[in-house]
Amino acid sequence: MKIQCPHCQKRYRIKDEKLPVGKSIQIPCPSCKGTIVLDLTRPDRQGRQTIPAPGGPATDMPAAAAADEAGRLESELLLQWEELPPMLEVLVKIRQILQNPDASLKKVAQVVETDPGIAARILKIANSAFYGLSGNVSSVQHAAVVLGFQTLEDVVTMASTSDFLGKKLDGYGIGAGDLWRHALTVAIGTRKLVLSKDPKLENDAFSAGLFHDLGKIMLDPFIRENQVELQRRIEEGGRPWVTAEREVLGFDHAHLTASLCENWNFPPAQSQAIRYHHYPARSQANLLSYALHVVDALSAMHISPAEGTGAAPPLEEGALDFLGIELAGLTEMMEEVAVSVDQITGEMGA
Ligand SMILES: [Fe+2]
Ligand SMILES: [Fe+2]
Repeated sequence: MKIQCPHCQKRYRIKDEKLPVGKSIQIPCPSCKGTIVLDLTRPDRQGRQTIPAPGGPATDMPAAAAADEAGRLESELLLQWEELPPMLEVLVKIRQILQNPDASLKKVAQVVETDPGIAARILKIANSAFYGLSGNVSSVQHAAVVLGFQTLEDVVTMASTSDFLGKKLDGYGIGAGDLWRHALTVAIGTRKLVLSKDPKLENDAFSAGLFHDLGKIMLDPFIRENQVELQRRIEEGGRPWVTAEREVLGFDHAHLTASLCENWNFPPAQSQAIRYHHYPARSQANLLSYALHVVDALSAMHISPAEGTGAAPPLEEGALDFLGIELAGLTEMMEEVAVSVDQITGEMGA
């Protein structure tokens, strides 16, 4: 559905399936903060035929109301994040250029240099111990030459996300830089894991790993607001964190991240894997989802105070069997990943 703010005239697009069914909602315009009223009570406004009858069976009302409320929150968040954050625009442009087999180093360097912050971070990462170039990389163009386009894409992805994912998240109890380190761990680990299973997934694995928990940034204020209820469900009810999140908010960060990646036209393989990274058995045997899940669960850095109450994401039964791997074999891999993460972040002060 396309909408337009009546105050600043800015236009937005929001997927119909993200809109709550059969009600009017008010959404703050991300640009001018004015109120946009959406009348979703008519089927022709939503492209949906099934609209619950107002005042339906009393027993259905609480669930319906909760679903509507969850739909409203999700729609609002996706609308606020409808436009790609500026720090990711360079990444998207670089990916478009690199898809062309005739991509030129000069063109890549020109695009990257439109954002001096990202260009500086690219040089720090390219000069980190991880790539073994001994601090000799002096320009983005030079980095492209010595690293090659594929590795350059990884470096640009890391440089674009380090600030963005490096925020402190009070609701989740995640310190500054910790989410990015976790994301980097999962990105490197998942890529290592899929290399022996299906090397074609290598690029998607790295990107999906970096972005898999992005929804936590969006949800953090709501997690903070509902902290007492979440902790009650985790501590008294014994729920894993992600289950409590879903029960209290109506959806979880994995679902939200995947929807956002779809809106931003990320490759479907990545958004599908991200959607099920906490429950890969629902992914219809998606190898990348299983790999992401296993590395995520094993990542020691995942343990924020909120998740460290015994409610860290559990390793789903059957996940290791699906991948045909033993836990013991993964321990060594995760140790290597931790060294890589230290090497990359060492130069960045993360
Ligand atoms: Fe997650
Ligand atoms: Fe995670």
